[in-house]
Amino acid sequence: MADAPPAPADRRLHRYLRAPVAAWERLGLRARVTGLFALGALLLSVLMGGLSYYATSHFLVGDRINAAIKEAFAGRAAVEQRLVVVPPGQPVPNELNVVADLNAATGATTSVLYFRGTAYSSNSFTVSIGDLPEALRAMVRAGTPATQTFVLNNQPQVAVGVPLPTLDARYFAIFDLADLDHTLHVLALALVLGGLVTTLLGGVVGRMASGRALRPLSAVSRAAVAVARGDLDTRLRATTEDPDLRGLTLSFNAMVDQLQDRIERDARFASDVSHELRSPLTTIANTLNVLEAHAAELSPRARRALELLGADLRRFERMVAELLEMSRSDTGSADMSLEVVDAGELVRQSVSAGMRTLPTPVPPPAIWIDPVLDNVTLQVDKRRFERVMANLLENAALYAGGATRVAAEPGPDRRGRPTMVVAVEDHGPGVPLSERRRIFERFYRGQVAGRRGASTGTGLGLALVAEHVRLLGGLVGVEDAPGGGARFTVELPITDGEEPS
Ligand SMILES: Nc1ncnc2c1ncn2[C@@H]1O[C@H](COP(=O)(O)OP(=O)(O)OP(=O)(O)O)[C@@H](O)[C@H]1O
Ligand SMILES: [Mg+2]
Repeated sequence: MADAPPAPADRRLHRYLRAPVAAWERLGLRARVTGLFALGALLLSVLMGGLSYYATSHFLVGDRINAAIKEAFAGRAAVEQRLVVVPPGQPVPNELNVVADLNAATGATTSVLYFRGTAYSSNSFTVSIGDLPEALRAMVRAGTPATQTFVLNNQPQVAVGVPLPTLDARYFAIFDLADLDHTLHVLALALVLGGLVTTLLGGVVGRMASGRALRPLSAVSRAAVAVARGDLDTRLRATTEDPDLRGLTLSFNAMVDQLQDRIERDARFASDVSHELRSPLTTIANTLNVLEAHAAELSPRARRALELLGADLRRFERMVAELLEMSRSDTGSADMSLEVVDAGELVRQSVSAGMRTLPTPVPPPAIWIDPVLDNVTLQVDKRRFERVMANLLENAALYAGGATRVAAEPGPDRRGRPTMVVAVEDHGPGVPLSERRRIFERFYRGQVAGRRGASTGTGLGLALVAEHVRLLGGLVGVEDAPGGGARFTVELPITDGEEPS
């Protein structure tokens, strides 16, 4: 079986790098900047720390070796003085004294003397000539003074070897480097700690710097959210002279200006069209009234045509009226007339007013007002609330045989502020999940409306409801009613004398 051809190296590398790169990109910009600052600080402290350690250890060790060499050569004089008097063929007299004296003369930790084939050590328990590095011994044996660092019993040492060829002697001075080693350890520890602190500081500086750098972006993001929410008067304040940020501010504001212009132009257009349609419509309606008054004189076919025309005209009139109302809130010219009203009374009155305007009579719904709302007053535009209730009751009458229950309950909203939730329930077919968002869009008509034939309704009713509720500072929604059917809810803030936000 043939092996699969190996993936090209760059593709394999790409595969290995993909996961960390993706994880890195998933981090927020701020986290990445912080990470880069910390990494930069770490690299810099590793570099600086490494260089400092190298230079310091190089200097200290070199210094120590130079001192050792000087001392060993000083000791050489003492060796000569002692050994020159030894008769040929004799060993070192009182060897311990000689090597101990050498220690004293040089300051070495241990002195090793090789004389006429015998080695003497000032501390033969711990150091013998065999412990010295072979390379060092060979060089001294060959007549060259030499130095070598080595480790003995886990302790760093430096040995200096000095030949005395005329006396057939070699002298080695061994210096313990443990204190130097300790100093270098402490230095390394201090550098590592310093590096860690620098890395941490780098991260903190990165976090602060990125926070400052991203502040304008946060402002842009907040402004964009406000614009998206419909607050088209939002603009960014040019608080800085920084040319990059000024450019961003100016272009953002120019974009919102244009957006606002365009939206206002569109809204004015719809408003102008609706206005322009009103007078010919009135003329047509008047003419139709005259014709209807003489309907008895018309042929059955002409009468039928007149009826169809009448139905369509009323639908058209209603649509123009609704469009006009909608465009008024679009252009911001919708007026609010706020009144302080009793919550329960408002609901009861709106239901009975709504029931009176229904195109086809249906049984009235049961009304339930939570006793908690008994003494609650609201500051609200009553006419708008009545329009909302009339629309919901009309829909219930058209699509569900009439509302069965209207309930008003207190409830905190998502931010915990006090609200009144008015629910209009029916036992009709309900609103399918897929339509629940769309039914509040303009001109959207759902499945149940389709079933009733295309001639009634325009799909503007709930869009107007949503608009009125928005102006009242509330929220509108739809869900399933407890026993099946639709339950439309209108959540109004209980501002109790304050302006609704
Ligand atoms: N109580 C209800 N039960 C079931 N579906 C409903 C109910 N109320 C509204 N709908 C659905 O929501 C759609 C949108 O309602 P909306 O009131 O906006 O328009 P419409 O009633 O079709 O026309 P109009 O502009 O004349 O009110 C309706 O076409 C219907 O499909
Ligand atoms: Mg409707």
